[in-house]
Amino acid sequence: MAEKKKVRVGLLGAGWIGQHHGLNVISNTYAELAAVCDLDSKRAKAYLDQNNSNAIVFDNLEKMLEQRGIEAIVIASPNASHEEHAVAAAEAGKHVYLEKPMAITLEGCRRIVKAVEKKKVKFAMGYHRRLNPLVQYAKSLIAEGKLGELVFIESDYFHHVPGDLDIWSWLGKNDIAGSIIHAGTGHNIDLIRFFCGEVAEVSCYKDVVMPRKIQMETEDLAVINLRFKSGALGRVGLFLGPILPFTFTLRVFGTKGTVDNNRVWLDTIPRFADFGHEEDYIRLPQSWIADNVQGGVSETWKQNMDTFIDDIRLDREPFNGAQSGFNTAAVCFAALQSAAEKRSIKPEVL
Ligand SMILES: NC(=O)c1ccc[n+]([C@@H]2O[C@H](COP(=O)([O-])OP(=O)(O)OC[C@H]3O[C@@H](n4cnc5c(N)ncnc54)[C@H](O)[C@@H]3O)[C@@H](O)[C@H]2O)c1
Repeated sequence: MAEKKKVRVGLLGAGWIGQHHGLNVISNTYAELAAVCDLDSKRAKAYLDQNNSNAIVFDNLEKMLEQRGIEAIVIASPNASHEEHAVAAAEAGKHVYLEKPMAITLEGCRRIVKAVEKKKVKFAMGYHRRLNPLVQYAKSLIAEGKLGELVFIESDYFHHVPGDLDIWSWLGKNDIAGSIIHAGTGHNIDLIRFFCGEVAEVSCYKDVVMPRKIQMETEDLAVINLRFKSGALGRVGLFLGPILPFTFTLRVFGTKGTVDNNRVWLDTIPRFADFGHEEDYIRLPQSWIADNVQGGVSETWKQNMDTFIDDIRLDREPFNGAQSGFNTAAVCFAALQSAAEKRSIKPEVL
């Protein structure tokens, strides 16, 4: 049987995460990094030279989209450009891998979904945590009925970002980066939607508490409460500034068991709750919480990219597609609206 040709990928944005995504495309047997586009074409060229790649360099997306044979675009440009770039790529008939946040307005997210659906292209959000080993294990426990019915879920995003970094000139600015609730805790919301499904109602308090060289507009502290359509409740915490290494938590409580980060408690473990049996839990490898590294690189980015490439070549339904990306974004925007209007909000669900 003739070997199927590789999926030819164009990378947009050869910055910090774009460079990781580019390497993940290069290392995928079924994909080829065909082009890289960055406003700073010298940066793109240096990156490709460093990695012995002869991908073509562009300094403008339009030109890259005109390049024949490119089937998919990985978008790792700044947040405020996501809408324009994702719509342009989808309208040109390219499959889209889009970094988070989907867009900095809900209308922008809606435009992306429409373009993706109209052109019937594959779509993946850069929400890699659904593929973390711990998350996959928890999902398998649920599928086997071992956690019972899910009743409560919580996930925190604690990230110490020093106050004297230049990053504050854009991070936390509404019109440049969008909210931290979407750009940061969008990861947590997306993850807990993976477990509990769609959200019926959201309430949120938020604030700015940490001193910085350039102060942020949006929020560095928030608590988001969720009621899912399933009846389960959820909570997401955000603190961008704690004296703590980067910490992303996950706790899933079911009627028959609990996943407390890398500790699993099941009601099949004898007398687990009795005095003297506090250690009677299953301890999962610490490395399964793959992302808890300050400034770190996630192993699971590769799995997310591999899944996107497989979605294209095997013509599968996307693992975490555009509608799902919209629904996560809608919860984030509902949280912002809740904090502003001091009432709970029912997010739009596609
Ligand atoms: N999934 C994650 O965990 C994760 C982690 C980090 C960053 N991100 C997201 O990835 C995106 C990029 O972040 P980063 O830290 O790599 O930023 P970065 O500033 O390091 O890189 C952005 C690159 O895009 C280029 N660029 C800007 N506008 C462009 C345009 N119009 N056309 C072509 N190139 C353009 C810049 O020159 C730069 O090289 C952001 O949206 C960010 O939220 C996601």
